[in-house]
This record gives sequence, structure tokens and C-alpha cells, in this order.
Amino acid sequence: MYPESIISEKIHQLFQEHSIDPFKKDKDFADRLQAHLPKIHRLFGEIYGGCFDAEQQFLDLLRSLILAHKSRESGLKKRDQEKSEKGVWFLSNQLAGMSLYVDRFAGSLKTMPTKLSHLEELGVNFLHLMPIFESPAGESDGGYAVSDFRKVEPRFGTLEDLISLRKNMHSQGMYLMLDIVLNHTSHHHEWAQKAKAGDFYYQDFFYTYSNRSIPDEFERSMPEIFPESAPGNFTWSEEMGKWVMTVFHRYQWDLNYTNPNVFRAMLDTVLFYGNLGLDLLRIDAPAFIWKQMGTSCQNLPQAHMLLRLIKQCVQVATPGMALLGEAIVAPKEIMKYFGTGEFIAQECDFAYNATQMALQWDMLASGETRVMLNAQSEILNKPYGTSWITYTRCHDDIGLGYDDYMIAQAGKDPYQHRKFLKEYYSFSGDQWMSPARGALFSSNPKTGDARISGTLASLCGLEKALIEGNGPAIDLSIQKILMMQAHSIFLGGLPMLFYGDEVGYTNDYSYQHDPGKSYDNRWMHRPVIDWEKVNRKKVEGTVEHQIFEGTKRLLQIRKENELFSDLSNISWMSPHNIHVAGLVRRMGNERMYCLFNFSDKAAYLTWYAFREQGEGSGKLWDHWTQSEVAVGPDHEYLILEPYGFRVLEPKA
Ligand code: GLC
Repeated sequence: MYPESIISEKIHQLFQEHSIDPFKKDKDFADRLQAHLPKIHRLFGEIYGGCFDAEQQFLDLLRSLILAHKSRESGLKKRDQEKSEKGVWFLSNQLAGMSLYVDRFAGSLKTMPTKLSHLEELGVNFLHLMPIFESPAGESDGGYAVSDFRKVEPRFGTLEDLISLRKNMHSQGMYLMLDIVLNHTSHHHEWAQKAKAGDFYYQDFFYTYSNRSIPDEFERSMPEIFPESAPGNFTWSEEMGKWVMTVFHRYQWDLNYTNPNVFRAMLDTVLFYGNLGLDLLRIDAPAFIWKQMGTSCQNLPQAHMLLRLIKQCVQVATPGMALLGEAIVAPKEIMKYFGTGEFIAQECDFAYNATQMALQWDMLASGETRVMLNAQSEILNKPYGTSWITYTRCHDDIGLGYDDYMIAQAGKDPYQHRKFLKEYYSFSGDQWMSPARGALFSSNPKTGDARISGTLASLCGLEKALIEGNGPAIDLSIQKILMMQAHSIFLGGLPMLFYGDEVGYTNDYSYQHDPGKSYDNRWMHRPVIDWEKVNRKKVEGTVEHQIFEGTKRLLQIRKENELFSDLSNISWMSPHNIHVAGLVRRMGNERMYCLFNFSDKAAYLTWYAFREQGEGSGKLWDHWTQSEVAVGPDHEYLILEPYGFRVLEPKA
């Protein structure tokens, strides 16, 4: 790799070649490049320094940054500036998100604007549009098998429609998030097609092998992601006459990041998305991007180095775009995606709080908070300046991926406890006492692992209650839905609702009749929105009205109180009552107690729980019930109804 003195010279040449004016017009860019260059150079050198053309590749990377800067719209540059003036703009309590499929929610990109008022009414101003780039029907994995990273799937519209939607959203104060599927492409992608046709240059974009010896070695230590529908990690390609690595589905070919051409092509895609005007880029499955024989091929140090390199490059060329690493892995491993050591808070800006998400389902089923509390020593380590995506549901399954020790420390047997949770949420006939209606996803008989599918409402008992026409059970399930949402909305981070949950969609089983979906029961919780149903939100007394109004109110409470910004200001109250999870958010002298009763019985909480936090015998205002409670003597209690919750603020 070039020494730094030569790099300065090369940059000077590149600037001249591309008419970059580092002293005036492009000063901000040039300054950022200067600031990040040492790290970019070092990271690139550590990963690709051994490649025969490493120096040329590095110059090409710098050229990509320059070109991305040059093609960035002036409006976006202004937005970058505004964001940087706000400090860490995305920690704000003013942001609230929703994840949705454009086609299933609105029809197309063109019709999306007509649905924005629904979101505005709810209080959502941050949209995650599920994958919208070209993806072959029937082999799409919900859009996560991309055949062209730069062409919008015609079903949704065009790139122009996307840009005009983004402009429309930005002008209304909204934010946009899209995915980049970094780990793999569809086997219909041009690179895979060329590889199949025998082009060695492109075969090197993937992990391809003429016989089973290397794949067999890899398989010894690689787990299976979709053991039921796509067992194994390699697929035989008849056209290519080779095995190719396919960690997810057989039609998703893993990209080979040991090849710098792959990295640069994908970095260009990242910057291209930055210039589409994204505020947040969801990096799909980052844990998988580096493979090494003899390992699980997940969470490897090189995967982190690649993400850090991407982060540095984005900060130079498209700085207003934050990064979300979708790492749904063990709690300790998730934390590393925020960066470690000298890169702390310099890798992914966001990660999914998948641990807490799963733990709230654990609490709902068990009625106890102990396992959740055992996980906090890890979750609360999130570095300042980074944030969580908090959620109760998303388009994926719920994995019970927290550690066994967290269960064991609660005095439970990890195997039996997980077995109980799986039985609780998966519907196995009416003989089972659980009100939840979900299904097991990706059961692996070899390991006993399984995850859970089902909508928020169905898992909270609404589907069963509606079928039975059981009024009290309907009310209780609505209470549970709102408690689960409240827990994730006040938790700290950017709440990301999942479309349909705001009006209580139950499972949709029609996917079973679609051969492109029937092998994947995650489709049961990806509804096609019926706007007549949604409009029942206006009719008082309906399920839709109660859930919509409740969710809206929760988001309002969050927006009205700045201490719900993600200021790393969270602590958990002592578990005086194991059924009640108590979260304290603080800012200066202000504090807010968020209490959640995960039990189906009324819970009594001693006032000592508050006294321990330094609370005197004053009054607390409950933002949720809009009523006042007085911190009483110890023979009195705060009583929370079954699945009840409170958002309590000391009154001045
Ligand atoms: C991510 C997506 C999931 C997809 C997988 C493979 O985990 O959320 O839906 O199946 O990546 O791309």
C-alpha cells in the first residue's frame, strides 16, 4: 500500500481530475476526507493490503468517494449540514418509525403519499420501506434476494418514483430508511448470471467450488439459518458446474468480500443509496459478510472491519446517512456492532435491540421479569451516540437468542424454559391453554432450535379472542398489545412499529396457497392492508380504534418528553415484584418511571421501589391514565391491573 505522503499527492491529482476545490466549494468534503483518510487507509490496508492490485483498488475507492460527493444533490448536502449541527440527530425523541412493505401497505411508490396522513396521524415520521429493489418473483425472500441493486422492482414503481417520494417525505419533515442486502445477491443478479456462464472474474464474486471438499470443511462449523426450507450452506449450480455458498436460501448467493472488487462494488451501492437521500441505511445481515473455515462464519473480526470501513467512507461522502446493522445474534455479539476499542461508536450507529425484543415476549409468556433483568448488564453497555431500534415485531421471526446463563440465573432450566416459550406461542390445537396464536419457524430437529412467527395481535391473544367472540379476552389482549408497545416505545432508542400492528392485524394464513411463499411462515405476519379495516380506527369502540388511539397516545407521550431521547439514561428498578418491569429514564433532575405488569393478575408494588430511587413522599403524575398517584406509606401499594402499565413523573 502507498505510504501516506504518496497518497496526499494522489488525492491532489484526483481532486484536479474531478475539479474538486478543496479550499472553497468542496472544503467540507475535503476536510472530512482529510480527517477520515488515516482510518480508511489503515482499514483498507488491513483487509486488502495483501491483494496484488491493492494500491489501485485503494485509489478507485477514493475516486468513488469523490464521485459520490460530486453527485450529491445540494439539498441533501444542506440536510447533512443541518443534521451535523444538531449533534447526534437520531437520538431525538421526536423520531418514531414504522416498517412496511410498499405494495402490501399502499400498492406502489406512487400511491404511498396518499397514505402518509395515516402515519402522520399516528405520530410516525420515519419510514423503513421493506426491500424495493428488483427481486425475482417466487424467489425473492421478501425482496432480500436482489437481482439489481439500482433498479426499483417494477411492481413498486421506478427510481424516479422513489426519489420523488423521498423528496415529498423530507419536505414534510419525515425520514427514510431502506435496506442494502450486503451479504448476498439473487442468483439472477448479473454477477451470478455471468458466473453461471463460466466467467471466472464473476465466479470470484462468490464462494464457488468444483467439488465438495471445501464446502464439507465449512459445513463442519457453520450453523444452518433456514434448516427446514434451505438446509445446508452450499448449493450445486448446474449451469456453473460448481458448488456455491448459499447461507440463506438456495437462490441467495453469498458475496465474497475477500475480493476487493466485491467490496468496492458494494460500497458504490452504499453511496448510491446515500445519494438517493436515505437518512438511515439498514445493512442486512452484516454478521455474515466474512467467512472463514473452521468458524461459524458469523461475527468475525473482518466483518466488523468492513463495516467500520463503510462507516468511514459514508462519513466522508454521504454524511447525513446513518447506518443500522441488522445483527440478530447473541447479546454480547450485537453490542460489538456499535464498534469496540478505538472504533467505539464508529461502526453502526444503530442496531436492533433484538435481545430486549425477544425478552419482552419471554416476560409476556412467563409473567416474570427475572430473565430480562439478567440480560441488562450487557444491553445497557450501548455506547453514547449510538442507538437502538426498539420493536415488538418486525417482518422476521422472533428468535429466542439470549443466553442460557440469563435463564439459568433466574433459577430456570434453559432447555425447559425455551421449550415452554415455543409451546406457549405456537398454536398446536385447542387443548393448549395459551391464548397466543403463532407458529414455529425454522425448527431444527438436530439442535432443537426454533423461532416464532405471528403478528403482535395474534401472539397477544386477539385472534383467539375474536374467534371465540370473548369480550373480556378481547379487552385483555388489547391491553397486552398496548403494554408491549409501551415497553418498546419508552425503552430508549428509535421505536419502529410494524405496519398493521397499529390497528391490530391478526395472522393472515393465505400465504399457504402461494408457492413462492408457502415454505416461509413469516408471511403470516406480513399483512396486505385493507383500508376499510384501517378506517374503523375512526369508529369508537372498535378494536382498531382502541389500538390505534392507544398507540398514538404512547407516541405522543414519548414526543412530549425530551428525556425519552436516547441519552443512555436508562436504569431498571429493583425487582420488588418479579412480575413488574420498572424502567427509569432520567435527564438532569427530571425522571420518569415506566412500569409494566407482565402478569395476568393485578400486581402490587411497594412504595419502597420508588424510595430507593430517591423519591420522597410526593405525588406522581401518570401520563398514561392521566391521573395522579401519591407515594404512600409501606402498607399501601401501587396497584397495576393485569398487563397494566404506568408512565409516572414526579410532580413539582
Ligand atoms: C435478514 C432479513 C430477513 C432475510 C435475511 C436474508 O435477516 O431481515 O428477512 O430473510 O436477512 O437476507
